[in-house]
Amino acid sequence: MSGFFSDKLAALEPYVPGEQPRDMRYVKLNTNESPFPPAPAVLRAVEAEAGGLNLYCDPACTELRAAAAALYGLDPENVLPVNGSDEALYFAFTAFCGPARPMAFADITYGFYPVFAAVTGTPAHIIPLREDFSLDPADYCGLGETVVLANPNAPTGLALAPAEIEKILLSNPDNVVLVDEAYVDFGADSCVPLIGKYENLLVVQTFSKSRSLAGARLGFALGSPTLISGLNTVKFSTNPYNVNRMTQAAGIAAIASQDYTLTNCRRIGENRAYTAGALETMGFRVLPSKANFLFAAHPAASGQVLYRALKDRGVLVRWFDKPRIRDWLRITVGSREQMDALLAALKTILNDERGA
Ligand SMILES: Cc1ncc(COP(=O)(O)O)c(C=O)c1O
Repeated sequence: MSGFFSDKLAALEPYVPGEQPRDMRYVKLNTNESPFPPAPAVLRAVEAEAGGLNLYCDPACTELRAAAAALYGLDPENVLPVNGSDEALYFAFTAFCGPARPMAFADITYGFYPVFAAVTGTPAHIIPLREDFSLDPADYCGLGETVVLANPNAPTGLALAPAEIEKILLSNPDNVVLVDEAYVDFGADSCVPLIGKYENLLVVQTFSKSRSLAGARLGFALGSPTLISGLNTVKFSTNPYNVNRMTQAAGIAAIASQDYTLTNCRRIGENRAYTAGALETMGFRVLPSKANFLFAAHPAASGQVLYRALKDRGVLVRWFDKPRIRDWLRITVGSREQMDALLAALKTILNDERGA
């Protein structure tokens, strides 16, 4: 490590994103993107906006905020547009946590939470999920700490009902409860309707998954005006133009293309059921997912062996070299053709394993 760097940097273990191969040879099922292109109105809006790139964008994202507020049934002061929901998470760790203000989260959850904890000097209070990977809300009740829950959780796909999360909110009135709803559009119930009721609730959503905009980087923090103003202080202290001109235009058009989004979510739900059934027939254990991915393990082959063998056959899935989940694969639910390619490759691999 270079002498130029601070002690904090020297100790930092950065987040490792899923592979993004440049050659596009793979059936790419490793980072939970949408297999569908952005809505046609999004493509038109981005093209129309490109001529204005010589000028800074609106730092308040006025039109986008208004459109998002209408979409979520909120007021504009409840909404902060962000450069991907990762930025909202970072703003939240910066605004609500720190050396004397721990953050509680599950042992098996989104891998960026421990990294944001480290970069903001926040002690991580890690709470193990149950044996079956479900989360016991009682573990978070009365904690007196800031809490972050991914709901549905990643990489398990399991979701809590908002009534369960309400217990956590009620019992931690002086601390923020952050609900990361990156995958909520694929079948879980959102906590957004609770925002008017709980000043300590912050919901984070993304347009990367259900709205096919992973490459545009757009997400939203949704919460009480108090919480949103705290996040705005962080934003205007770091990057006031955090959502660029083309992404603001894309977001407004994506919100106006709600039928397109709903159709795609329905298609992903159908492909998820189809793939889960086929995996179970092959002997996989598959968790009941409410997200656009499946978490699956096979008794006859380790996660690492399956990940490598799939990659050799041109199918990229996510394998985490971490305690408790080494035998599992996280598989993005894509188009029917992608799912058939995955299933065909797995059949061959499992046959080879049996013959070996
Ligand atoms: C649980 C969870 N939260 C947040 C994100 C970040 O999404 P983005 O920054 O693309 O909005 C991801 C990305 O995969 C995720 O899995």
